[in-house]
Amino acid sequence: MSHLNHVITSAKSWQDLSFDLIAIGVFDEPKLTELGLELDSKVGGQISAAIKNGDIKGKVKETTIFYGSDFKVLVIGLGKTAKFEPEIVRRAAAIVVKQAMSKKYGKLALEVFGFDKLDDLEAASQALAEGVVLGSYQFLDYKKPDEDDFELTSAIALNASDDGIAKGSKIADAVCLARNLGNHPGNVATPTYLANTAAEIAKEGNMKLTVLDREEFTKIGMGALAGVALGTDEPPKFILLEYNGGGAEKPIALVGKGLTFDSGGISIKPAAKMDEMKYDMCGSAVVLGAMKAIAALKPKMNVVAAISATENMSGGKAYKPGDILTAYNGKTIEVLNTDAEGRIILADALSYVSKHSDPEFIFDFATLTGAVVITLGHIATGILGTDEELLERVKQASRITGEKFWELPLWDEYCEHVKSKIADVKNMGKPRQAGTITAAAFLKEFVGEGIPWVHFDIAGSAWTDEDIPYTIKNTATGAVIRTVLEVMGV
Ligand code: BES
Ligand code: MN
Ligand code: ZN
Repeated sequence: MSHLNHVITSAKSWQDLSFDLIAIGVFDEPKLTELGLELDSKVGGQISAAIKNGDIKGKVKETTIFYGSDFKVLVIGLGKTAKFEPEIVRRAAAIVVKQAMSKKYGKLALEVFGFDKLDDLEAASQALAEGVVLGSYQFLDYKKPDEDDFELTSAIALNASDDGIAKGSKIADAVCLARNLGNHPGNVATPTYLANTAAEIAKEGNMKLTVLDREEFTKIGMGALAGVALGTDEPPKFILLEYNGGGAEKPIALVGKGLTFDSGGISIKPAAKMDEMKYDMCGSAVVLGAMKAIAALKPKMNVVAAISATENMSGGKAYKPGDILTAYNGKTIEVLNTDAEGRIILADALSYVSKHSDPEFIFDFATLTGAVVITLGHIATGILGTDEELLERVKQASRITGEKFWELPLWDEYCEHVKSKIADVKNMGKPRQAGTITAAAFLKEFVGEGIPWVHFDIAGSAWTDEDIPYTIKNTATGAVIRTVLEVMGV
């Protein structure tokens, strides 16, 4: 186990529960909650004394520990009431968890921070559970245990909504699956591994799974994926997962880039940091994470998920600059750089769901361009699309989930940059210009006419180089899944 996979609720009074550490929140004009006052009396009035003395100011991230006879109390700052939102609860919960783990307190109890200020206890409870589960995440699969390692054993939420806690736990557990997929090295998280993960999700969620191997997807006309996969001996896969919980409704389509290692191919990447290209399948991890949450929550809707999975290598059979490939929708692609492979493999997946699924809308997820990392760093996801309303829905949902998105324009002028003289499209725009936009302009060519579509470039947001409360430096974040589920209304 590398994360606590769920939070529990209890109807019992806190005195009847067993825990090592109990956490309460205070705003920046500190006033104790009912629970806070009871705990204060158990620690001889020290909490109220610390508030009075100004040692507790209630600033965001501020933590203070008090020692009772058989448990500790952690007081976490929540900042200004005017700025309070679910993301503050999520972050506070993760900070508490990280403190508890660093001090090896295994059993945790937490109140839903600021619940007296929130009108939506369910949303706040969901955020709390997400913060606890995501904050407890560690990736220790390949390292011998040492004495510093410690895992949380349980977390009980007090004054919480049962539904909110259950939902937040399941969603965060699904995000942790995506993190694991991203963090596993390329020699483990292969296309076959992604297909096996899809099979487990299919079983749990009663979904239909179809996996096409090289021969099969080549035969049906996926010349784009087949072209990129020519250089690798690791078996590539086209993975299709269908969830039917909504009768005859149109499905939502989720499409992911499952590039399990991107060497750049013949247009090879520099050696420095090439190891980071194990994260190049994080788009597929978003899709699988979302489907895992759907399997657990069983919403009334239809969803079709498609993943193009392969390595991008430079073997003797590898595709070359100058080659022309034919995608599943019949459009031809002039390859100018084999390192712009993500858009090529997505061409077939986008064409496939457009043709066969009659989707209500399509979301695609890909670690597509280095340019988006230059633009937005690891903080936000670049979004582009053809449907203003759908883009707006993503932005609205992000206000609830705390994940960040920034829209880039997909103007016609940019779309001209991917037109080729000898094929229908080319896989590069102008060198060093608007790289994230021209990549999306290329994808647009493979989205069926009239289907609302948003592309998520997660090359920056899929992993982080900072410790922010519920992520760990230099690991996969599982970003975007929570927002996607929120937009879908899961
Ligand atoms: N997988 C990379 C994009 C990437 C870069 C992801 C850095 C995460 C971090 C993608 O396949 C790629 O190589 N894109 C090229 C496109 C270029 C050749 C047009 C890029 O962004 O440099
Ligand atoms: Mn590449
Ligand atoms: Zn790539």
